Amino acid sequence: MQFEFTDNPLSNISADVAVVFAFQSEKEKKEKYVPLEDFQELDKKLNKNISKALNTSGFSGKRGELLNYFPQEKLLSKWIIVIGLGKKSEFDPNDLRGALGKLVNSVKGKVDSIALSIPSRELKLESGFTAQLISEGLLLGYYRFNKYKSDKDNKRELSSVIFSKKGDTKKEKVGIEKAKIAADATILARDLVNEQSAVATPTYLANLAISIAKKDKKLKCKIFDKEDIKKLGMDAFLGVARAADTPPKFIFLEYTPENSRKKEKLALVGKGITFDSGGINVKTGESMSGMKMDMSGAAVVLSVFSVISRVAPDYPVIGLIAATANMISGASLVPGDVVKAMNGKTIEILNTDAEGRVTLADSLSFAVKQGATKIIDLATLTGAAIVALGPQISGLFSNDKELAEQIKKSAKRAGEKVWELPLEKEYKEMNKSEVADVANIPSSRYGGTITAALFLEEFVGDKKWAHLDIAGPAFSSKASDIGPKGGTGHGVRTILNLLSL
Ligand code: BES
Ligand code: MN
Ligand code: ZN
Repeated sequence: MQFEFTDNPLSNISADVAVVFAFQSEKEKKEKYVPLEDFQELDKKLNKNISKALNTSGFSGKRGELLNYFPQEKLLSKWIIVIGLGKKSEFDPNDLRGALGKLVNSVKGKVDSIALSIPSRELKLESGFTAQLISEGLLLGYYRFNKYKSDKDNKRELSSVIFSKKGDTKKEKVGIEKAKIAADATILARDLVNEQSAVATPTYLANLAISIAKKDKKLKCKIFDKEDIKKLGMDAFLGVARAADTPPKFIFLEYTPENSRKKEKLALVGKGITFDSGGINVKTGESMSGMKMDMSGAAVVLSVFSVISRVAPDYPVIGLIAATANMISGASLVPGDVVKAMNGKTIEILNTDAEGRVTLADSLSFAVKQGATKIIDLATLTGAAIVALGPQISGLFSNDKELAEQIKKSAKRAGEKVWELPLEKEYKEMNKSEVADVANIPSSRYGGTITAALFLEEFVGDKKWAHLDIAGPAFSSKASDIGPKGGTGHGVRTILNLLSL
């Protein structure tokens, strides 16, 4: 998808579709919708025929409403789409991304080019950000995972997006570049999550990390194999990996900026369970079915590193993934086993299905040992997070107010939903073990996303740390405006925004 600019008004652009915008009226009874300038201009050219058609159709400009108009008049575009943005007073910038995602879904396969303007003034948004939101919506909404489909449903490829804009376009071009970075990374994350676990093995993820680092002078990558992992003292991670036929990999990525101004070092840690069968505490059929997605946190980390030089934070960032499948065999961990994490703490395994926190115990210990000053982990950690917040919102936990605020702000801008939950100290006792320093499941099932976060806190020392439980939003059972069912890449754009703060 190429983005271009022209001075021409929409009526004078040769594209398959011309797209214009309308708000919903503030007062229910009055005129039904409020056309934006681009709409008015085009309508005037067509002797008000668009608005006449809309009046008979009952179009009201509701958020996400699309209306098709096929002009009989002589116009370069044979198809006009009006997008409803909802009431102006209720407009949220994320609605614009969604609206364009919806639009691209409705024209996918049918057109090669679309033309539209950038209504930043009327939306009261910065023009670069407006261009970014529009482009992100188009790029993300266009995504499909169809490598295993014989029929790719791409009759025509949407190859050109033409913006009608008079004068300087510098800011808009910066916005479009940000959208491309966000989309490239999000799409990689979606692909990784959607890929079957027989392909997206720990070795596959490790090789991807190596190839990402090869393309970028500011990146280094080191892969620790089973023997190295043993030497590092990651017995917790190795315990989980014991029953898998695919060898475990510990992935270490390192970004070093040219001139590092700040003393901080950020660690991004992703849960990398390439398939979660539950282990000996085997999952039931239904709850196991989506578990190729249990490496969604790892997918976020790899995807962020694939574009990190384009975002160019001025402090070092490391990426850590303990990658393994959680499988069943005679070699599996069993309830009652005790493993020791890299930081010396012992963990009693009471349920092999609470494996993510056990592997993260070692990844987080490693981050501390590497001298990270800030740690952010992303993990599809608990079903309880979905019970608490539903399928679209991830749970945020942090021992640092400022870091939590930065993440919330970044998530809002990204259009990714997060909600902070408490690291309630009094719940810590639920993670107590009779025989080891800590148990891998709590004594009560209530508050399961909190007790899992409290477990992780045992391994971050005194470092600033935030944990995102992305179990719900990492994988969607329903198509959204900006993506189909399946892997969503949730977390990628939040982290990218955070890196550019
Ligand atoms: N990977 C799962 C969590 C999960 C569940 C992610 C549903 C996405 C959708 C995790 O490893 C797990 O199995 N957690 C258990 C923990 C329990 C045994 C304490 C859970 O949530 O049931
Ligand atoms: Mn599990
Ligand atoms: Zn899991």
